[in-house]
Amino acid sequence: MAKSWAPDSWRSFPIKQQPQWPDEADLDRALKQIAGYPPLVFAGEARSLQSGLAQVAAGNAFLLQAGDCAESFEEFTANNIREKLRVILQMAVVLTYGMGVPVVKVGRIAGQFAKPRSADFEQVGGEDIPSFRGHIVNGEGPTSAARTPAPERLVQAYHQSAATLNLVRAFTKGGFAALDRVHAWNQEFVSSSPEGQRYHQLANEIDRALRFMRATGMDTESNANLREVDVWTSHEALLLGYEEALTRQDSTTGGWYDCSAHMLWIGERTRELDGAHIEFLRGVGNPIGCKVGPSMTGDDVIALCEALNPAHIPGRLTLITRMGADRIEAGLPPLLRAVRDAGHPVVWACDPMHGNTYTSPGGRKTRAFDDVMREVEGFVQAHRAEGTWPGGIHIELTGADVTECIGGGDQISDSDLDHRYETMCDPRLNGRQALDLAFRTAELVRQGVD
Ligand code: PEP
Ligand code: CO
Repeated sequence: MAKSWAPDSWRSFPIKQQPQWPDEADLDRALKQIAGYPPLVFAGEARSLQSGLAQVAAGNAFLLQAGDCAESFEEFTANNIREKLRVILQMAVVLTYGMGVPVVKVGRIAGQFAKPRSADFEQVGGEDIPSFRGHIVNGEGPTSAARTPAPERLVQAYHQSAATLNLVRAFTKGGFAALDRVHAWNQEFVSSSPEGQRYHQLANEIDRALRFMRATGMDTESNANLREVDVWTSHEALLLGYEEALTRQDSTTGGWYDCSAHMLWIGERTRELDGAHIEFLRGVGNPIGCKVGPSMTGDDVIALCEALNPAHIPGRLTLITRMGADRIEAGLPPLLRAVRDAGHPVVWACDPMHGNTYTSPGGRKTRAFDDVMREVEGFVQAHRAEGTWPGGIHIELTGADVTECIGGGDQISDSDLDHRYETMCDPRLNGRQALDLAFRTAELVRQGVD
């Protein structure tokens, strides 16, 4: 795009989903403080992730993007981070073996705080109070005081992201992610849970492959590839003031990178072509994602590709479809054809969560495991029919044993939802539901290959 771009050029474009900060001067102070802090990631890392995603775009690798709907300031513990990471690593091993291709692992983690909302205000006891927009903006308690946006939360989000990323780096490089260890956790899942029983065969195959490798001298001590992994960070780039404050010029290439995370995505509610979010993200060198909902046409998607990736760089753009299980079969194929015919090298990822949310009879926002799985199936089938690569999945999950999505091996029902419903925002798959999904996705993609 010939139009000039600067880290603050988004400011002259229409913008949606921003909080009403009570005091602009307070906001500016917080943003200046963050702008003076070190970057959280560096440009070379974003480029490494982009090369991994280029392999996904070419059909030689698979993307697993997963984590919380919204990270919490209150549940900020080593235990939480470790358990989330553990599920992601377990899913990745299953997918790698099942599909026979490398899995690019990206967390919705270390910065996934800000939430778009369907309404600016919520009525509580006859009073209109601001909607909860994530801990980076306000508190979730249903009072006007808790919901008032507080700029010091931006600074706190920066620090929490830094500490989270530090632990993710330590775990992924320090032995926690060793392949035999992750496999042992998977075997525990297979032998100890009803949903795991189905996967004995796949787990045994992985076991044999590992034993074979050990017998030939390839073990976790001698081979760093078996001991260390990359888990990249990502979040929805919603609060553009925060993103701008962490946008830095790379000294080696001169390009601008948003150093708040390796990958950033644009949500379904902020992807207007002439809006501020597209303007901001078109100018940063990071790999970026954009949600693609059921209302989009082939022309809309091509326009998005042209705006965000005019140079057709493979791995630069990931289109994250979130159609809903009932709509994907009809809705996705025309988009796949349009993008393929236009020669755009995108990663196609399936978010089977956000198009399948409903309110349970008990009043809880939930999703059914079966709908989630049906959307993944529709996604894989559509790609198979069009000859394109079902490049990845984008999942909301947690390591904890929550009861937020119904169904799965434990047959969580409407009446179980109250038992451990802990999300501050959307319902997440629990650890066992997430693993079940990974095994089933591996089976689905494998069916087309064997
Ligand atoms: C999300 O990923 O949490 C989200 C809000 O998704 P979407 O923009 O697709 O609704
Ligand atoms: Co969500």
